[in-house]
Amino acid sequence: MKAVRHHRFGPPEVLVLEDVPDPTPGPGQLLVKVAAAGVNYADVMLRGEAGPTARFRPEVTLPATPGLEVAGPVLAAGPDTDTALVGRRVTAFVPNGGYAELALVPAAGAVPVPDGLDDNRALALLSQGATAVGVIDAARLTAEDTVLVEAAGGGIGTLLVQLAKQAGATVIAAASSERKLDVARKLGADRVVDYSRDGWTEEVGPVTVVLETVGGRTGTEAFQLLAERTGTRMVVYGFASGEPADITAADLFSVGAALIPFSLGRNPELLADLNRRALDLGTAGRLDPVIGSVLPLAEAAAAHRAFEDRTAIGKMVLTP
Ligand SMILES: NC(=O)c1ccc[n+]([C@@H]2O[C@H](COP(=O)([O-])OP(=O)(O)OC[C@H]3O[C@@H](n4cnc5c(N)ncnc54)[C@H](OP(=O)(O)O)[C@@H]3O)[C@@H](O)[C@H]2O)c1
Repeated sequence: MKAVRHHRFGPPEVLVLEDVPDPTPGPGQLLVKVAAAGVNYADVMLRGEAGPTARFRPEVTLPATPGLEVAGPVLAAGPDTDTALVGRRVTAFVPNGGYAELALVPAAGAVPVPDGLDDNRALALLSQGATAVGVIDAARLTAEDTVLVEAAGGGIGTLLVQLAKQAGATVIAAASSERKLDVARKLGADRVVDYSRDGWTEEVGPVTVVLETVGGRTGTEAFQLLAERTGTRMVVYGFASGEPADITAADLFSVGAALIPFSLGRNPELLADLNRRALDLGTAGRLDPVIGSVLPLAEAAAAHRAFEDRTAIGKMVLTP
């Protein structure tokens, strides 16, 4: 089969399409014919050599095939493995190896895709959908809230804008380009702000909730927007800039806001429920993932480059 691999850590161009042996499912595994492989920001961090995010990279054995999530039909089940899903379309997390024509999926984590959802949208509701639902739960949004959604044109951000609107909150979408802000506007954001500009917080004014995933100076500035009311909170679910926001105990004390972490990785027991809820919302048409680009496997490097250049919009998908 064809698979994207990298033999060293480095820039997006280390990703190359190669011929590798077809995988054989072992006990507890399903063999999936990949129809769609999700590209996540985590993949970029796992591939990169340098830069601030490299130090957060878990161990990766080279050569490696990136890709943490796939969608497609199940071709076969391994020995001693339930065959109920053979022939059905599923989405699933994979430990690695998603950017390929075939992938081995842990049977216990495979989720059948509802008929009303195509592969790309089902995939967008897996990691990013589950994260978005979990972040909104953690934020406990109400109609009284004014919420700042960072990276609002991204995979998770575009879902957060929709969920925050459905919770009745006033939504301020923040992103680094007019294209991304336009997407957020179309998804229902009440106001938008380009946080790559100096002085952006003055355009925003006070908010009651920040959904924080950028970190660094942006995250630190966003925290200061919480100052004027009691009961304000910042949900931290990432730091795409590579540096966490610089918020001290003294800042928490003086601003009076709560800092709430959300991590799927630290709450794996929540994953199945969050993913089911995201899929249900998608099937009901209440959560409509933005599929920003669908590229062939051979263009995996371009997909990674788009993340690094901050031009990626919504969910990025690779297709064999
Ligand atoms: N907590 C969890 O369980 C969990 C699960 C999955 C993902 N995450 C995190 O959630 C975030 C969003 O993930 P995603 O897959 O949906 O990605 P994404 O939002 O599609 O892409 C990352 C976003 O980060 C923003 N960004 C800010 N500074 C950046 C920089 N220096 N380089 C590149 N991008 C930068 C970009 O938006 P602008 O250009 O508009 O700033 C971009 O849209 C990531 O930080 C990811 O690590 C957390």
